[in-house]
Amino acid sequence: MTHSPLLRSDQTLFRDPDVFELTYLPEHLHHRDAQLKELAFLLGPTLRGGSAGSAVLRGPPGTGKTTTVRTVFAMVQEETRKIAPVYVNCRHDHTVPAVYRCIFKALLGYAPPTAGWCLDDIKQGIAAHLRDHDTALVVCLDDANELLAAGTYNTLLYQLLRLYEKWDVRKAGVFAVTSDLALNLYAEADPSVRSVFHPLEVTFWPYAKAEVREILTDRVRQGLYPGVMPAPLLDRIARIAAEEQDIRVGIDLVRLAALRAEKDGRRRVGSGDVTAAARMVTAPALRTRAARLSEVERELACWIAERSRDGVDMASGAVFEAAQEYFPVGKTTYHEYLNRLAEAGIVDLMPGAGRGRAVRLRYHAGDVVAACRSPDQTCEIPDNP
Ligand SMILES: Nc1ncnc2c1ncn2[C@@H]1O[C@H](COP(=O)(O)OP(=O)(O)OP(=O)(O)O)[C@@H](O)[C@H]1O
Ligand SMILES: [Mg+2]
Repeated sequence: MTHSPLLRSDQTLFRDPDVFELTYLPEHLHHRDAQLKELAFLLGPTLRGGSAGSAVLRGPPGTGKTTTVRTVFAMVQEETRKIAPVYVNCRHDHTVPAVYRCIFKALLGYAPPTAGWCLDDIKQGIAAHLRDHDTALVVCLDDANELLAAGTYNTLLYQLLRLYEKWDVRKAGVFAVTSDLALNLYAEADPSVRSVFHPLEVTFWPYAKAEVREILTDRVRQGLYPGVMPAPLLDRIARIAAEEQDIRVGIDLVRLAALRAEKDGRRRVGSGDVTAAARMVTAPALRTRAARLSEVERELACWIAERSRDGVDMASGAVFEAAQEYFPVGKTTYHEYLNRLAEAGIVDLMPGAGRGRAVRLRYHAGDVVAACRSPDQTCEIPDNP
């Protein structure tokens, strides 16, 4: 008996699935010229025998911080041997030995031996390499807030920036990156660190919708076959990603929507594919938003979601009157709650007919109800015991 093959690679809608991977380095970095220039400016002196400058890179998740640093480092590696750029992912490597091991491996091309080597041996290996090659070290500590949490931030900064004193090498540059906007990585440095750490602040603002659209168009052109993603659907995806202020949401939506169409044996993404993908991708974000609300605000959000599902009048005045039975609060308090829901990004308050505003849910009603009923449930995969 002959079986039809389970997987038919010729039916794929993906021209290059790798471009949707999180680690993919895009061929063209859009709308980050200013940041690229600032980082390149800090590296300039090393080409003339001087030391690299340092920077603190800040911006919400998915604003291109990691990609910008990786792009600069890739360009540097192509152009010169005078700079040794090293990227450290502090989510993975946040102890002092782990960071040095990472630097050692990046410079020498192999991991330092685990047996018989102490930390000073690793440092010495790094210093010897830098001296022999007359190279300036530039370390990117990505997600450096993890170092603060691990209590290693100041030790590492101090040692890296003062490496030159002990080992007679050129002064290193450090790019410290964080997506935590409440955190000031410069202020977190001890006075002894601050005397050698004078970072340039480089800010990454969320992309506007048109910018998201351009980045996604590029990704679609490279990753999918022509005609697979209709322009109006890409527009819708760009809008969702811009509202979530995270370009990753857009990249994921394109991938998931195309996968869904492919699974159904269709050659073109449909509106239902984007809707289904959006529900999957935005669910964790929605839960985070719901968790920021007070209990009564969550109840109101739930109630509004159920009402909107029933398709009744969503003018804010009508919602207020109907809500009285469940939420016997004054008009001012009600509007305060409503404003909180809008600030949390769960509803939009649209200009309505007449004087009032209309309440519009940003998400699928069922998802809002689910998120408000169990706001603390996260989508994270638990660690292995
Ligand atoms: N300007 C851009 N042009 C092309 N692709 C981009 C651009 N900015 C971001 N991306 C893509 O978006 C995704 C997220 O970008 P990146 O990882 O650099 O964000 P981030 O700011 O470091 O986020 P986080 O704070 O969560 O680490 C990556 O897949 C990257 O390829
Ligand atoms: Mg990053």
